[in-house]
Amino acid sequence: MDNPFKNFAKSFFSKKSGSALGIDIGSSSLKLVQVKNRGGKAILETYGEISLGPYAGFEIGRSTNLDADKISEALRDLMAESNVTTNSCGLSIPVNSSLITFIKLPKTVERRLETVIPLEARKYIPVPISEVALNWWVVPEEEETFSEFQNNEAKKQDQSLNVFLAAIHNDAIERSKKIIKSSALESSFFEIELFSNIRSSLDQSLQAQMIFDMGASSTKLYIVERGILRDSHVIDKGSQDITLAVSKSMGISFEEAERMKRTYGIASGDKEKNLTEIASLILEYIFSESSRILLNYQKKYNKNAGKIVLTGGGVNLKGLGDYARKFFQVESVVADPFSKVEFPAFLDDVLKTAGPEFSVAIGVALRKLQDME
Ligand SMILES: Nc1ncnc2c1ncn2[C@@H]1O[C@H](COP(=O)(O)OP(=O)(O)OP(=O)(O)O)[C@@H](O)[C@H]1O
Ligand SMILES: [Mg+2]
Repeated sequence: MDNPFKNFAKSFFSKKSGSALGIDIGSSSLKLVQVKNRGGKAILETYGEISLGPYAGFEIGRSTNLDADKISEALRDLMAESNVTTNSCGLSIPVNSSLITFIKLPKTVERRLETVIPLEARKYIPVPISEVALNWWVVPEEEETFSEFQNNEAKKQDQSLNVFLAAIHNDAIERSKKIIKSSALESSFFEIELFSNIRSSLDQSLQAQMIFDMGASSTKLYIVERGILRDSHVIDKGSQDITLAVSKSMGISFEEAERMKRTYGIASGDKEKNLTEIASLILEYIFSESSRILLNYQKKYNKNAGKIVLTGGGVNLKGLGDYARKFFQVESVVADPFSKVEFPAFLDDVLKTAGPEFSVAIGVALRKLQDME
């Protein structure tokens, strides 16, 4: 990707420690963001992206499943191209290398969670517990709503604990360690990408918000309330499925279909009517599923979501914002994760457009910066 920041970064920032690097290994491309702390603010130093397709002998836009060596090769190329000046980094782990679930336990086991949770987790995790890294925490109870408070309605005492459970497969951890080592980096954490995304894409809000991350191979949905993850789903279709469908239906190469998708999107009216119709079939599937998931959540908790935040490279499809606004009954906005960092004003437009692809990498970089304080 053409990075207008590169020369700027090169000339204005000298090699200094105190910088933090966030890395996101997506299925179709690798992204990085480097930030540093100045007066308590995160300052953008550089960012960059590289397509992984060519490292697997495929086209740009293809989703890949590369081994650690190939990923390191791409990462080293990207770091050189983006003038990265630090080796202190954090790395995201794809949602599909992890298992995320909520379990209910009786309150009586509250003091024995250390032993109870690994035993309980066996019921939910399809591989031996020794093969995963387990993280968990108790989801705080809901606070009283204002009307409950006003009407003096005591909330029904819930006798169960709601525990959030996240397991990362050891293979994914080993792979990540290998990538870090052969890229001469030092990573202090691996974070499931959804937490990075929440950090960079959402604002504080009392109402539930849903992140809609349309990547190449899948679309991920996270419902978050008061900063806490409440629900997560993966839909097995992403933006690459549009390219594949266009290529097949029109009898053109993947490369040509990808180019058409990125040039016209679904906003060119009669001019590219076929393209719009084909893309709409895939979008219809993804959006119907998303809508169903959100409605279920709203029904289950009897409350309305305030906002849907669109992110991931797939939402750069021209016309997608309008499509989402028509489809969902809830306000839909495109993520602006670079708004969480400071940068020179002349980059405003470039970073607004690039934003959705960098949500995860920015979230990782921000956590790394916090950890370094
Ligand atoms: N301008 C654009 N118009 C349409 N689609 C685009 C545009 N730019 C990127 N995309 C699509 O976005 C996808 C890449 O998005 P992203 O980088 O978020 O995915 P990823 O992180 O590699 O994948 P995943 O999250 O599924 O592992 C590709 O399918 C690409 O074709
Ligand atoms: Mg991604």
